[in-house]
Amino acid sequence: MKVAVLISGRGTNLQALIDACAAPGYPAEIVVVLSNVPNAAGLDRARAAGIETRTVDHREHADRDSFEAALDAVLADRGAELVCLAGFMRLLTAGFVGRWNDRLINIHPSLLPSYKGLDTHRRVLADGVRMTGCTVHFVRPDMDAGPVIVQAAVPVHEADDEDALAARVLTAEHRCFPLAVRLFAEGRVRVVGERVTIAGVTEPDEMLINPMS
Ligand code: GRF
Repeated sequence: MKVAVLISGRGTNLQALIDACAAPGYPAEIVVVLSNVPNAAGLDRARAAGIETRTVDHREHADRDSFEAALDAVLADRGAELVCLAGFMRLLTAGFVGRWNDRLINIHPSLLPSYKGLDTHRRVLADGVRMTGCTVHFVRPDMDAGPVIVQAAVPVHEADDEDALAARVLTAEHRCFPLAVRLFAEGRVRVVGERVTIAGVTEPDEMLINPMS
């Protein structure tokens, strides 16, 4: 399956996808990495892996429709079948989201629908919850909303600061995004009434209790 990855920054989730795609038998190939930020570090990761890169700078477009038409042109040119948002920091209009309905996925660093939006780890720590995580989901016009494909639960430690918690969640992100893309590319993911069903999954029984003792 031909995958486009949209980024705005450092691209560690992109790197996880690049590494997954390099494994024999992985059913997806990254056909383009597209950034709205000209110097995004993630572009270097793509170049190092020999992947086509494009920049569509939102500041060079008068409005969102024009910006998104430029995105669509790149996606069509590269023959993308699935679009992955991996730290892409522009909100997309209902028009774009609708054109890519159920073929556009995002990764978010919380257990959605909790902690939508920015600064998730800061808010998690302020609330004192003992569990957080990450979510890969289909994109809908509302921010950080849409059918959930894969989630990981990640414990919050009392000594955590934002960076420590972000690092622990990021480790989970790097496993969840390649897993979700693989399941999708294998044709096993279906959206039924705004819930996802996945054919042939193994579901864990273990619970994660924090603290343990
Ligand atoms: C990740 O935390 C992702 O969940 C969020 O943006 C961050 C991107 O990080 N959407 P990276 O660029 O993949 O390192």
